[in-house]
Amino acid sequence: MNIIVVKDYKEMSRKAAKIMASQVILKPDSILGLATGSTPIGMYEELIRMYKNGDLDFSSVKTFNLDEYYGLNKENEQSYYNFMMKNLFKHVNVKKENINIPDGMAMDTEKECLKYEKKIEASGGIDMQVLGIGANGHIGFNEPYESFEPITHLVKLDEKTIKDNSRFFNSVDEVPKTALSMGIKTIMMSKKIILLASGESKKEAIIKTIKGKISPEVPASILQLHKDVTFILDEKAAEEL
Ligand code: PGA
Repeated sequence: MNIIVVKDYKEMSRKAAKIMASQVILKPDSILGLATGSTPIGMYEELIRMYKNGDLDFSSVKTFNLDEYYGLNKENEQSYYNFMMKNLFKHVNVKKENINIPDGMAMDTEKECLKYEKKIEASGGIDMQVLGIGANGHIGFNEPYESFEPITHLVKLDEKTIKDNSRFFNSVDEVPKTALSMGIKTIMMSKKIILLASGESKKEAIIKTIKGKISPEVPASILQLHKDVTFILDEKAAEEL
């Protein structure tokens, strides 16, 4: 386990972008696992800047996002599809056909989840997966639970997650109650993982993840078993370490 502690959000974003960029430079046809939320936005901004400077080329990259709200269509302002378009894809040269995000409008969720798993597998597997972390220790939308959910599945969102994410919606009632998310095994199969965390609200989840016992009650704690995981933390998120 590699732990990098930097001063603040900006430094975390720059460090993460450099790691992602080196992945793409060394392997131009990388399979990238991407995340949404407030945390990776700065990293995406930095990657866009590198692309615009001519230092990065995404034309052979394939992407798989961690999750999508269930019941929101692509055009919905709050869908993760829309988030990814706005914060990364429309600014860089990732080919549209190489972008993969679970379909939040799929009628048959089980079929959609299996299809997603198979597509990841057929691509050769994720080379580098980016993760944020929920204040409750979730990764993707793998919420604290009595067991680890292995593969992409329909999740019932935790009350805490609904409350945390309501800041993006007009009211808490508008936040979807379910989502499609990669499972723990899907994430753990990634060759490399980088987890980003910034701010005091994450410090408890971070200490439990890195130093606590491995338990599905803190889904991110499973990362202790991954052979190539890097935590990029700002000072506030790392405060308890
Ligand atoms: P955040 O969410 O980046 O908006 O804090 C992280 C997460 O829930 O995984």
